[in-house]
Amino acid sequence: MDPQGPVLVEGPVEIALDDGTVVRSDRFRVAVCTCRRSRTYPWCDTSHRPRERAASPNEDGTSR
Ligand code: FES
Repeated sequence: MDPQGPVLVEGPVEIALDDGTVVRSDRFRVAVCTCRRSRTYPWCDTSHRPRERAASPNEDGTSR
């Protein structure tokens, strides 16, 4: 299990957010984001995964 990854829970599930909003998912299994990087928080969108490094060692994609 990825310690930075989501918590998988059986749905349907309701989650109360910090601002008091309650969101619901009717999926049979729900991935709840624990890293807070998800753009669809509180649902995991895989943003917790480390970025793949580009094939080029240079950040700007140029070759030396
Ligand atoms: S746990 Fe997957 S995006 Fe946060």
